[in-house]
Amino acid sequence: MIVFLVFASDPDPLQDFCVVVDDSRIRVFVNEKFCKDPNLTTADDFYFTGLNIPRNTSNPIGSVATLITADIYPGLNTLGIAFARIDFAPNGLNPPHTHPRASEILIVLEGTLYAGFVTSNPNNRLITKVLYPGDAFVFPIGLIHFQLNIGNTSAVAFATFSSQNPGRINIANAVVGSTPPLSIDVLTKAFQVDKDVILDLQAQF
Ligand SMILES: *[C@@H]1O[C@H](CO)[C@@H](O)[C@H](O)[C@H]1NC(C)=O
Ligand SMILES: *[C@@H]1O[C@H](CO)[C@@H](O)[C@H](O)[C@H]1NC(C)=O
Ligand SMILES: *[C@@H]1O[C@H](CO)[C@@H](O)[C@H](O)[C@H]1NC(C)=O
Repeated sequence: MIVFLVFASDPDPLQDFCVVVDDSRIRVFVNEKFCKDPNLTTADDFYFTGLNIPRNTSNPIGSVATLITADIYPGLNTLGIAFARIDFAPNGLNPPHTHPRASEILIVLEGTLYAGFVTSNPNNRLITKVLYPGDAFVFPIGLIHFQLNIGNTSAVAFATFSSQNPGRINIANAVVGSTPPLSIDVLTKAFQVDKDVILDLQAQF
């Protein structure tokens, strides 16, 4: 009998924590990771600040997602979690994208967001909700999702991820903005449109 094990989350750590450390003199090797000596960890290793600061949303899509991982928050390392602050200008969009390795819970702090995701084939059902401050919405792992600010004011949301490294694939960038570009033959057949439509889309990236 052959048994396949599939893990839907990051592996569980074998120690309390593994605070990332740059200083080679004080690191120890635990569970295949370089960690700070646990006896030398301080409260600051588990602390992060500045999440109240609005980010600059002056860009073509009017939104910015600030991902916070163990790279800038050492105490998160090996815990299987990460989070983000997402700022939206009025009418700003967090464009359709997927996280290949994480489910996401989005919590709205300020503003009004139209959020949704699309189920996998064959149904491709669109599931959406208008979210207000205090509301949460979950985006299941791997599914294409988005948020649009439909309020008059800027909006702020926080997102938590079930992986230390959720990954992000923006659908438009990946399909019509790849380097080198996907061939016209592939894209005209996939979208069932003329070559000119594809060239126009590719020209945007
Ligand atoms: C951490 O402290 C404990 C208790 O004092 C000690 O037993 C242990 O060896 C120390 N660990 C390291 C890596 O120094
Ligand atoms: C926001 O970003 C835009 C474009 O990069 C820049 O022109 C503008 O000065 C920035 N605003 C602030 C307040 O930093
Ligand atoms: C949003 O804008 C509309 C139209 O200008 C206005 O009627 C409404 O009062 C505004 N809402 C808020 C919360 O400012």
